[in-house]
Amino acid sequence: MNQHHVSKAQESAASFPVEKIRAMFPALRQAGDFIFMDNAAGAQIPQSVLDAVTSHLVEHNVQRGGRYGRSVTVDQSVAEARESVAVLINAYSPSEICFGMNATSFIRLVSLGIGQMLAERDEIVVTDMDHDANIATWLALEQAGARFKWWRMHEDGNLHVDDLKPLMSDRTRLVACTVTAHSIGSIVDVASVAKIAHAAGAEVFLDCVHYGPHGLIDVQAWDCDYLVCSGYKNFSPHMGFLWGRFETLKRLPTFREDFIPDEPPYKVEAGTFIYENVSGMDAAVRYLESIGRNFLAESNRSRRDNIVAGMNAIRDYELTLAREMMKVLKACGATIYGVADEARIHERVPTFCFNIGTLSPQRIVEEMAALQIGIRDGHMYAPRLMKRLHLSMDSGAIRASLVHYNTVEEVHRFGEALRAIIAKLS
Ligand SMILES: Cc1ncc(COP(=O)(O)O)c(C=O)c1O
Repeated sequence: MNQHHVSKAQESAASFPVEKIRAMFPALRQAGDFIFMDNAAGAQIPQSVLDAVTSHLVEHNVQRGGRYGRSVTVDQSVAEARESVAVLINAYSPSEICFGMNATSFIRLVSLGIGQMLAERDEIVVTDMDHDANIATWLALEQAGARFKWWRMHEDGNLHVDDLKPLMSDRTRLVACTVTAHSIGSIVDVASVAKIAHAAGAEVFLDCVHYGPHGLIDVQAWDCDYLVCSGYKNFSPHMGFLWGRFETLKRLPTFREDFIPDEPPYKVEAGTFIYENVSGMDAAVRYLESIGRNFLAESNRSRRDNIVAGMNAIRDYELTLAREMMKVLKACGATIYGVADEARIHERVPTFCFNIGTLSPQRIVEEMAALQIGIRDGHMYAPRLMKRLHLSMDSGAIRASLVHYNTVEEVHRFGEALRAIIAKLS
């Protein structure tokens, strides 16, 4: 980032309407003193999302595919949700958006399909920085004859694309990697990953679950082949969605009953998914668009323009939170895992994984809970990363994960609480 971009970003962060945004979240309004800093495990929802869920359940809680009005409305609302999610991630077409339970089940579904198509391209690249959902699921393809190459995180807390190149060969079928580590917050250069993978004739599967709430997703600019998100990290209720290029999904073997069309998205969506939560996801996209509207003056902008403006504003604001959090943790003497150099702050989101000397992560997190601060300790579902960081699976580390409704004041309260706990436990 040059100086001009830095000052523009700081300006946008300073004008971020965080109090107006907080007022839109019923859970934040009701929480009193409680600070939500476990957002990587699931975020809160704005009133408009709650209203969309309620409206589905009250006004048209019926099965789609019928000829009566309520059922037709369900078909329409699913179609609208596909359009909204396509806008959110810049899909080529809404028919590339598949709805379902969660990210893990979609990763499994795609892996089972790819497992049937391995042939002479039988190598899969996995990383040691991912959530285990995007590692173990692929490793299970060993039974189908897959072999694995490990793309390992550097000492500096991120994956380097230069390390990926030597792992590629004419046997590489797929590179499975995260867009951003849910545990330590490092952002991966996924557009370069796709270039390297495609140059070798391989595909790219991106786990976008953690990046989703923090920045602009653009499957066209990234040029990836598959991407998965969990709506519940993205200000919607519990649900997940998968994106894949239409032709790629068309080729993917999936289970479907004979009466289900052999076409994306239907061939990917086994059975009935949770319509009210899909309506919630639609409303969550509209909420993110509404943030963008604060930052754009023109009246003829597109929905995607609003998403771009909204997600960029969120990103700028969150960088302020990340900087502040890094300062606070360093002042507390924390060992920060992942990017800990302020000069590299653009490589991270405000998700911080740390330990305080030899103090028990569990004790610290319990003490923080008593002070009304919700953070998490443990292995973060990342056993390979824990090993890489020389942390035990039993105690692991502490994670504080912030999103755009958190404030600098909350970061300071977090710091005061942590300092008091350190003094008490030392
Ligand atoms: C990066 C990442 N990938 C995958 C998952 C699994 O997501 P889901 O609960 O939607 O299956 C999570 C959940 O925390 C995650 O953070």
